[in-house]
Amino acid sequence: MLARGIRSYHRPTRLEDALSLAAQGAVPVAGGTRVLASPVDAPNVLDLSALGLSRVESEDGDLMMGAMTTLQEVVESPRAYEGTAGLLPAACRFRSASRMIRGMSTLGGESVHAAHDSEVAAALLALNAVYLVTKPDGPVESPALRFLRKPREDLAGGGLLTSLFIPGAPEGAALERVAVLPSAPSLVAVAVTVSFSGERLARARVAVTGLEGPPSRVLEAEAEVEGSAGSADELEGCAEQVARQAPFREDAHAPAAYRRRAARTLTLRALRRAIDQARDHEPAQMDRPRPALLVRLPVAVPYFTSGRIEITVNGALRPGEAEARTTLLEWLRREGYWGVKHGCETGECGACTVLLDGRPVTSCLTLALRAHGRSVTTVEGLGGPDRLHPIQAAFVETGAIQCGYCTPAMELCAKALLDAQAEPSDAEIRDALAGCLCRCTGYVKPVEAVRRAAREGRST
Ligand SMILES: Cc1cc2nc3c(=O)[nH]c(=O)nc-3n(C[C@H](O)[C@H](O)[C@H](O)COP(=O)(O)OP(=O)(O)OC[C@H]3O[C@@H](n4cnc5c(N)ncnc54)[C@H](O)[C@@H]3O)c2cc1C
Ligand code: FES
Ligand code: FES
Repeated sequence: MLARGIRSYHRPTRLEDALSLAAQGAVPVAGGTRVLASPVDAPNVLDLSALGLSRVESEDGDLMMGAMTTLQEVVESPRAYEGTAGLLPAACRFRSASRMIRGMSTLGGESVHAAHDSEVAAALLALNAVYLVTKPDGPVESPALRFLRKPREDLAGGGLLTSLFIPGAPEGAALERVAVLPSAPSLVAVAVTVSFSGERLARARVAVTGLEGPPSRVLEAEAEVEGSAGSADELEGCAEQVARQAPFREDAHAPAAYRRRAARTLTLRALRRAIDQARDHEPAQMDRPRPALLVRLPVAVPYFTSGRIEITVNGALRPGEAEARTTLLEWLRREGYWGVKHGCETGECGACTVLLDGRPVTSCLTLALRAHGRSVTTVEGLGGPDRLHPIQAAFVETGAIQCGYCTPAMELCAKALLDAQAEPSDAEIRDALAGCLCRCTGYVKPVEAVRRAAREGRST
């Protein structure tokens, strides 16, 4: 259990208090998917979830996003589509196939972690994002080009990333990637944005992943097309510069030469798509909007090492003992909710999924304290052997269960989907179940079960 080293937990509601804790060395926890899934040394954790840093707003054509905005919130936000020509939502969807991880990972955590293969970081570079870091002595702005290279430098001295903004939407944008499987991390990804002035490309930004270091823009490639008419030769020249100038990585997944060749092709494709979008004035296509769920700002927890917490589980208030390091998985199983399955403890298998205020989360990467004062639904809350919930009945009737280890998670993900979307498409069902790994039944029958539950109007 990787959270074992945590000794104290703090959840302030005021930014000043959070800054003071960060300055004293408390480790910020945003979605927690990195902090709790890796052996990070974090004896004192600072939960950022009660600071109100989760919002997507537009102002005078600029897009403002709180650092705690989750990747899934970006995918579901019409403003994020308009403000980025669809690029950021596409990148957030590609970043993680798992619906649960997308619903937990935040733009802030993703940026500070500055992963080498992050499509989100590449998109933010191509969009010229600007990061707002608040420090004890005031706020500092840092362009993505700088922040994503060395985030720790900008955060030094107890700084917290509070928000980021994207100045002016591009007219066209595209993301192209290559991966071993659609759900696997990218070997290389290329994010492109373009804007025209008359017939000339006034702005072109090209950012790539798969490098020796974090994602980076390729300024020489941008210079090839900026000010040009975007002819086939000029686009070829841009793609050639990407292949020549970017320091592609050699590792067990792919040789550098492969990444270089792939990046050339992906750049051409991305440029063509972005230019077509800009010329045709095509709005970016977004998913069907879902009704917004109640956003409940968690209550303050000034300082906690161990004691009593209260979580509403399946509609009933449940007080119980916890330590700062106790995960929600551990707490729920200790309280007798055996339907919450214990698997990998790293967010990979999805077996421990529960609904937190209606949203699916992996309980192994959620501290019990984060659920204090909030509502959790486990499979026991859907129904039991005497009275199956219609979704559970559909799983039984379609033969979507063999050993059943993945079933509670799948049924809860189905519940969250059908509560939001009574008539989901197959793609929406697959997306909702993504992140729940099944090692015996497979995925065809569970998709059929959810389809059946939806068809028969059995969502409640
Ligand atoms: C199943 C799974 C698959 C994953 N796959 C990949 C992968 O393929 N590649 C990869 O690189 N990563 C991967 N990750 C890691 C992780 O998902 C991402 O890095 C994620 O985006 C982190 O976001 P978070 O909000 O959960 O960050 P957290 O874990 O909460 O924080 C990440 C880091 O940022 C700091 N931080 C967060 N917010 C702030 C803030 N506002 N101000 C200052 N500091 C802050 C934290 O202290 C921490 O150091 C995966 C994780 C899981 C669980
Ligand atoms: S995802 Fe939590 S146990 Fe595997
Ligand atoms: S039914 Fe056994 S893991 Fe899915």
